[in-house]
Amino acid sequence: MIKTRQELIHAYIEFFKSKGHKEIPNTPLIPENDPTVLFTTAGMHPLVPFILGQKHPQGKRLVNAQKCIRTGDIEEVGDEQHLTFFEMLGNWSLGDYWKKEAVEFSLEFLEKKLGIKKEELRITCFKGDKEVKRDIEAAEAWKSLGLKDSQIVFLGREDNWWGPAGKTGPCGPDTEMFIKQDGEWIEIWNDVFMQYNKDENNNYKELKQKNVDTGMGVERTIAILTGKEVFQTDSFVEIINKIEEISGKAYEEHKRDMRIIADHIKASVFILNEKLVPANVERGYVLRRLIRRAIRYGNSLKIETNFTRQVAESVFSAYKDYKFDKKFILSELEKEETKFRQTLAKGINLFERMIKGKKKLTGEESFLLYQSYGFPIELTKELANERKIHVDIEEFNKEFEKHQELSRTASAGKFKSGLADKSEETTKLHTATHLLNQALREVLGKQIIQKGSNITAERLRFDFNFDRKLSEEEIKKIEGLVNKKIKEKLKVECNEMTVEEAKKTGAHGVFEHKYGEKVSVYTIGNFSKEICAGPHVKNTSELGKFKILEQENIGAGTRRIKAVLE
Ligand code: ALA
Repeated sequence: MIKTRQELIHAYIEFFKSKGHKEIPNTPLIPENDPTVLFTTAGMHPLVPFILGQKHPQGKRLVNAQKCIRTGDIEEVGDEQHLTFFEMLGNWSLGDYWKKEAVEFSLEFLEKKLGIKKEELRITCFKGDKEVKRDIEAAEAWKSLGLKDSQIVFLGREDNWWGPAGKTGPCGPDTEMFIKQDGEWIEIWNDVFMQYNKDENNNYKELKQKNVDTGMGVERTIAILTGKEVFQTDSFVEIINKIEEISGKAYEEHKRDMRIIADHIKASVFILNEKLVPANVERGYVLRRLIRRAIRYGNSLKIETNFTRQVAESVFSAYKDYKFDKKFILSELEKEETKFRQTLAKGINLFERMIKGKKKLTGEESFLLYQSYGFPIELTKELANERKIHVDIEEFNKEFEKHQELSRTASAGKFKSGLADKSEETTKLHTATHLLNQALREVLGKQIIQKGSNITAERLRFDFNFDRKLSEEEIKKIEGLVNKKIKEKLKVECNEMTVEEAKKTGAHGVFEHKYGEKVSVYTIGNFSKEICAGPHVKNTSELGKFKILEQENIGAGTRRIKAVLE
């Protein structure tokens, strides 16, 4: 009988391996193959190019357990179901098996491995619309396995269509499996038939390759199998116990507060483990919101001193199968909590004064809370909602824009560079990344292209197509060449032009990215030329000494280098 997340993950992967699937890695939370989303929200993100037709080195049948972050409904967290961080089991057919076999695999796994009877299931299928026809094929597949008409319901796009996860990308009709728990129908698994690609003009184009993409939530499934609520299963129980211990209060009486803290700190731990730090933009902002929201709910449990570190320790302990950079995570949590606590009480005080006798908070007021007390606007909104006060978000945004000089190009470049901030350190590392990119081409060959890049204040990380380990000598040569270019004091210049013009000048870029009409091309002496949103230093002499710390194989013919400037 399966009772824990690790047992379920193991059973799932072994089952699909026995059906000819190859296990692929649990990839980072920052998707490297899908620039349309901030975080990996489903197991399919790393597979986008392969769903679109590129050949996957592991073949046409794949399986894995993927860590995911969904931030769409942070405010919903606190009930029994919503989670920010979760693990998703998935099996894929890349142009191999289709609906009938997918559904057969699903039912066999549910019955044989999870002990769920087909009579207990309810199935939904896509009912069809003007563009895509009713999914009779999926329903017939279920019926051929013995499910009755009365167990199958046809629903529309809102329910039985999945994707794209971002604005564009693969998508299609799906069939979902539900099981009753405590009187409610809970979705346990989703088989998506990825046969369309949605483009920027909202057109759905049929894909040449028909793919199956499935997703089973680990936490929910364990809840169903054990008859417990999600927050009492092994993915959460230690964390909840820790929060009870810290607060001296019982979960039974403070479910919502404790669920929010447990969920948010767990998600923060996993995001921090990607070497992201709290910031005011992009992914760093999501992280900051999560940590601060957890602290605020800690306050409502009357936890008055720093506690997020202790909660993080319980996350490490609940997920022993993951490797964590514990020191980094704990120190970042401590820093953020200390910073926020210094202003939290004062901010709440001010907020209470602001709303006295009023029904509305102005943009200026919520901006003051943001700027002086570090209140994310979502936090202000939530506090206001609890007291039935209206917050004018549009006015806030106007205030925000007035005070921010975030250039459009800088934010458009977010997905390419993974820049969470624009500090001096990251700027330098960003320029060093361009030097490295070109040095790799000169030392290893012109075929080298960028597969991913991620920069923090401490280091750069660069992924590129190369299918073997670099020798010591190659590493030395690459380092040497970058350092030579630093010593040559090369000027870094930026020119605006169209993508076409940029291509003509021979500028490198990640062309599958969706660039805007005009792009910036950064030229470093006559050594490197790349399309990039910046920012960069003015001269390579500002960089210091470049050093490669490590190299690693991240699969699919891709190598990763981590390097620093000393
Ligand atoms: N990608 C699908 C989901 O997230 C399987 O539900």
